[in-house]
Formats: sequence, structure tokens, C-alpha cells
Amino acid sequence: MKLLIIGGGGREHAIAWKAAQSSRVEKIYCAPGNAGISQVAECVPIGVMEFDRLVEFAKEKEIDLTVVGMEDPLVGGIVDRFEKAGLRIFGPRQNAAVLEGSKAFAKNLMKKYGIPTAAYETFTSPEEALSYLETAKLPIVLKADGLAQGKGVLICNTREEARDGVKTLMLDQKFAAAGKEIVAEEFLTGREVSVLSFVDGNTIRIMTSAQDHKRAMDGDQGLNTGGMGTFSPSPFYTEEVDAFCKKYIYQPTVDAMKAEGRPFKGIIFFGLMLTPDGPRVLEYNARFGDPETQVVLPRLENDLVEVFEACIDGTLDSVDLKFDNSRATVCVMLASDGYPLAYQKGFPIYGLEKFQGLDGYYVFHSGTKFNEEGQVVTNGGRVLGVTANGSTLAEARENAYRATEWVSFENKYLRHDIGKAIDEA
Ligand code: AMP
Ligand code: GLY
Repeated sequence: MKLLIIGGGGREHAIAWKAAQSSRVEKIYCAPGNAGISQVAECVPIGVMEFDRLVEFAKEKEIDLTVVGMEDPLVGGIVDRFEKAGLRIFGPRQNAAVLEGSKAFAKNLMKKYGIPTAAYETFTSPEEALSYLETAKLPIVLKADGLAQGKGVLICNTREEARDGVKTLMLDQKFAAAGKEIVAEEFLTGREVSVLSFVDGNTIRIMTSAQDHKRAMDGDQGLNTGGMGTFSPSPFYTEEVDAFCKKYIYQPTVDAMKAEGRPFKGIIFFGLMLTPDGPRVLEYNARFGDPETQVVLPRLENDLVEVFEACIDGTLDSVDLKFDNSRATVCVMLASDGYPLAYQKGFPIYGLEKFQGLDGYYVFHSGTKFNEEGQVVTNGGRVLGVTANGSTLAEARENAYRATEWVSFENKYLRHDIGKAIDEA
């Protein structure tokens, strides 16, 4: 079969790499893809929001299955558009992608169905938000309702910061329409864990756990980024936590969406906080995590395309999802110095060939392209996800860090403590 993957980052590289191993796949296209993805797929220069062109391309190439990596096209209704055109596509429809597209929707759903999450209020009026924040318990977390590339969350320690937060999100509209409504929620403490799952509308199958490091600098200092590295599994995700989440969070979320007339088919990413009072949902995403996918898919033993098809067909209950639990995986992001603010790009990348044919080491491309001379050059804030397996997390970390030294480019920047938290487990 022919596959089309939509997106062009490290997550889509990992999806394409894993899908390429499926015996059923003969050809993969990726729109728009990147230099790394072009090793396993033919990249086509069509933007992820160009739905008409994507539909046209899928028809022309007789694509059997399209897989959407990113949230923006999902929230924008790409699945509905493809289905209307009679094309098979993996991901939630627009009325279900709202689980990620609106934080107010997600919070109201959790409240209505008793799914554990932080206490909250929602506001569409800045005056009401400001008035509430004068007496709310501090610290308080303010979130833009809509998509904001993970940057629409402000943790406010003082009333001054809370007032500034309302100004940033609602009055200055830093995240445009995403800040029309805001959520103000209780500040939670604990370990964060990312849990990805496959969902077919009724059945949910949980993948191995992972943890992201979102801050730019060592010791969780600096600005929030798209993710500077991940490890999997999380040693903090114990059997007890798993049992709790299965009972109160995972299936209840799928059932709640169904009860609302918004059956969810695709990936649900549960962003969890393991608080002293038990696990709480921080957020839902309607797609694979980046860079969680880079540490989860290397240990998936199933044929990924078969699992996608089972989700679409509603037969996920017959799939036995298996991960190689004898190994752990760590991904260290190589970024451009200055990310997530200003940075330069276009620098040649050296050393990528060292990964070729090496078992247990992977380099997933986030922001790369070919220059006019055909050289692979940096093309984004996050450049490469250097990933390695190990028989333990500590060994996977050592391997991943060793591999980061094989690659060089001019303004290479990385954190040195990815996975360090695992020593405390
Ligand atoms: P979100 O996009 O909702 O996952 O938020 C981004 C990040 O903000 C999370 O990964 C947490 O580190 C932090 N965060 C979000 N909500 C809370 C909360 N209620 N309490 C503490 N930290 C939070
Ligand atoms: N790594 C966090 C995310 O994909 O949203």
C-alpha cells in the first residue's frame, strides 16, 4: 500500500521510519517532510494546511492511507476533508480533535465525567479574569484556550504576574484567537509523564510511558521549548499509577468523547502530573508527542500500519500491543543555539553517516533540509533527535550522549541532563 504522512519534524520521521518496516507498505510520501525523512519517504513540497492540494495529491497518487502527525491540520479538520473525498486517513475528526484544540473543552469534559484534573475556572472576559485573580490561590496557571505551540501556558507566582498574564493572553492577544478564552487552574506539583495511546472510538491501547524535558537549559531552567529530550519508559510510571489511570482516566476519556457524540479515533496523548494526591490530567493532545514518539516507536513490536488500520476500522480490541520492555530509550535533542528565541540556520551537518546500519541508534531529523549543493543543513530550532536504546535507562542515556558527539554543526546546542531524573527513581 501507499502511505502519505503529513508533517515534517522528528515525530513524522519516527512515524515514517517505523511505517517503512511494515511488510504491507510499498511506498511512503511525506508532505512536506525534511532531509532525514527523505531517506524513507518521498518528500513533497505541500504545506500541512493546504488541504485542497493534499487531497488532490492523495487522489492522484492513489494513496491508501494518510497519517497526520501534527495538531494544526487535525484541529483544522483535515480528517473530515479527506473522508469527504473518500480517502482513508488516520486521526481524529475535527469534533474530536477539539480535545487538544480547546483547553476549556477538555477541562469541562473532565469535570463533567469526573476525570481527575486540576481545579479551574474559564473566562472569556478579561475583567472577570482579573477580578477572579485578585483573590485566587497562588501560584496559579493561566492557559490560552487554543493552540499555541505549547507556549500558551503561564505559571504565575504573584498577582502582578497573573495580571500580566491576562494582559498577554487576552488583551495583547499574543497567541491571537487562542487567547479569546482562558483557563485559570490550580498549580499542581509532581512528576510529569507522557502517555500515548491508540484509540478506535471505543477501545484504547496504551503505549509505553515517556517523559519530556521542556525547558531549554540544564536543571529545568530557561524558557519552555517544544521539548529538549525524552526518555522511555518513565520509572515513575509504576503499576499502581497505571492501574489508577486505566480506571479513572484512559477509558473514561474515550467513553466521555463517545457520550458527547465525538467518538475519538487516533492518538490520545495524556499529559499527566503524578501529584501527591494521585495522577491528574494536565492536558490532552490529539496526536503523537514530539519528541516522545522518538523514544516510544523504536520499542514498538507491532506493525504500526496495522495498528493505524485497526483504529480506523474499530478493531483495536483484537490488537495485542507489544513493546520491548527489556530495553529503554533516550532521545537528546540537538538544537540551534538561541532556540526557542532567535537562532541562525543553514549550517552544514557532519557525522550523520555514523548512524547508518548501527543497531539501537537512531537520528530523527526535526529541522533539516538539503541545500543547493545537496548537503544536509540545519533548518530549525530543533535540528536532530539523537536517540539510543540501552538495557537500562542509564545505559540508554550513556549511549545517546555518546552518539551526540558523532554529529557536529556550527551552533549545536544541547542539554546535558536528559534522563538524569531517572537516577532518583
Ligand atoms: P500544557 O501545555 O497544558 O501541558 O502545559 C505546559 C506545561 O506547563 C506542562 O508540561 C507543565 O509543566 C506546566 N503546567 C501545566 N498545567 C500545570 C498545572 N496545573 N500545574 C503546574 N504546572 C502546570
Ligand atoms: N512533547 C510535548 C508535545 O509533543 O506536545
